[in-house]
Amino acid sequence: MRKHIVAGNWKMNKSFEEADELIDELMSKLEEVSLPRDEQVIICPPFPFLEMASDYANDSYFMVGAQNVADHESGAYTGEVSARMLASCEIDYCIVGHSERRAYYGETDQTVAAKVDLLLANGLKPIVCVGEVLEEREAGRQFDVVKTQVEGGLFHLDAEQIKNIVIAYEPVWAIGTGKTATPEQAQEMHAHIRSLLANRWGKEVADEISILYGGSCKPSNAKELFACPDIDGGLIGGASLKADDFMGIITAF
Ligand code: 13P
Repeated sequence: MRKHIVAGNWKMNKSFEEADELIDELMSKLEEVSLPRDEQVIICPPFPFLEMASDYANDSYFMVGAQNVADHESGAYTGEVSARMLASCEIDYCIVGHSERRAYYGETDQTVAAKVDLLLANGLKPIVCVGEVLEEREAGRQFDVVKTQVEGGLFHLDAEQIKNIVIAYEPVWAIGTGKTATPEQAQEMHAHIRSLLANRWGKEVADEISILYGGSCKPSNAKELFACPDIDGGLIGGASLKADDFMGIITAF
């Protein structure tokens, strides 16, 4: 069966020292609990801290993900970081298509597809984000919007490739706003996404793919969300920046 995953997206926060402290604190807290074998913790710090995080991760309580990757293989792309570079630093996962990248850096479903291909070719697992903005939900278009994103970013993959993908449903109106989707709203969308996957690759494959919820997820609402049949964990922003809060979510299953 599919994995339960709690992933922390630190976004553009923390200094090297603060990052070191947070990971250290998280490690000692993770050592104290025994997580179910089907649960995976992932932290996604900014690029400069990935190596440090991955050194800690060698002791294996969590895996490490990047927050972004270039949509080209290599060459004259100043400031970009390639999938091959991430693989060579033993990074396991990479967030792709986050709504902040889509909104501020022009990331499209086409870019998402290109990044997904490069990550898979280099043995990393993409965490592909989808989600509607408030106006789209208010217009009742959320299911169509997410369908277009899932199709555009992922439908070119074959059945073996899609099994290495994690999907994160992050309604944009819930990100950093304190306004969480209700478990019903989230479950409904997760079931929709799983049915899209089932139509494309079959039910058996769709049932293996972890679909995470993201958007103002915190210890107080994680339990209810994670209890939904199609919600397999969370992609956590703000609450992943404090070890206690993040642990509260990690232990919510
Ligand atoms: P918040 O948990 O801060 O709402 O952010 C969610 C998110 O964007 C994770 O990728």
